[in-house]
Amino acid sequence: MNLEELNKIANKMVAKGKGILAADESTSTIKKRFDAIGVPNTEDNRRDYREMLFRTTATMKDHISGVILFDETIRQKAKDGTPLVKLIEDAGSVPGIKVDAGAKPLAGSPGETVTEGLDGLRERFAEYHKLGARFAKWRAVIDIGKDIPSYNCINANAQALARYAALAQEAGIVPIVEPEVLMDGDHDIARCEQVTTWVLKEVFQQLFYARVPLEGIVLKPNMIVPGKKCPKQNSVDEVARATVMVVKDCVPGAVPGIAFLSGGQSDEEATAHLSAMNALGGLPWPLTFSYGRALQAAPQKAWSGKAENLAAGQKAFAHRALMNSLASIGKWTKADEKKAA
Ligand code: 13P
Repeated sequence: MNLEELNKIANKMVAKGKGILAADESTSTIKKRFDAIGVPNTEDNRRDYREMLFRTTATMKDHISGVILFDETIRQKAKDGTPLVKLIEDAGSVPGIKVDAGAKPLAGSPGETVTEGLDGLRERFAEYHKLGARFAKWRAVIDIGKDIPSYNCINANAQALARYAALAQEAGIVPIVEPEVLMDGDHDIARCEQVTTWVLKEVFQQLFYARVPLEGIVLKPNMIVPGKKCPKQNSVDEVARATVMVVKDCVPGAVPGIAFLSGGQSDEEATAHLSAMNALGGLPWPLTFSYGRALQAAPQKAWSGKAENLAAGQKAFAHRALMNSLASIGKWTKADEKKAA
């Protein structure tokens, strides 16, 4: 393993003013997004949509440090035959790949899941590296509810994340380590804080056991927010302070950077929270975004599968990327939302 090279890639992924575009929806997840805008889930439509994003050249160059791809996309070519990976590289952005096989029911722990995909992963990493991937993503999912999460669920997911991370680094690929505590329940912010702390402590313990040097990873956690169904929703400042407190408590300074997921927050919430955290200052690592929905909901709606809406789709993507770029340096304000990208 060349740790210096891994560290260089990781630092590039969290470079100042930039963040990651999570465009790695599986075929079934992108179907949900396309259903919402009335677009048939065909291979060509998936290609056209993602090509639209990757050809938003100035935005890609200025604000997108890396793109997480799905297996189909990393092999796909643009309409003119250019590999989509090349569009990303030409914009100076790093191509990445989602390698997990999804969260599956965890035996012995009703209502909980463990993320699968370790079998054959060494060979898959070798192929993905040849296809251009220089970083990867594995998402573990922890749900909060009555009597959950269990230690069994947290431990199984943290171990899988650590084994994945070690294999990625062995292949010269930077692992994005993503333990996501869901915001689906009615729990309050204190419960999210407690569970996320437990999960992050366990993840870093397992990374240590698996001998994963932290200089060669990027952490992708959830923010500390109340469940969507919780009657008490907290202010932007409360979320920012709680999140910074938890990551400071749990994430060693050797980690090159933290790129948050949006997890079902609205576009503007995800941006406001990130900006407020960075405005607090005094952080040992860059905090940026690795958003899926919070970067893509607007361009999906503007595009709606119509070739004549391509420019509108790109404009919407450019705008969200600019807003999040400002947030990553703590300089976003509500007034910026009114500005065109
Ligand atoms: P969201 O920002 O939509 O949560 O997606 C990020 C991601 O990559 C989840 O694995």
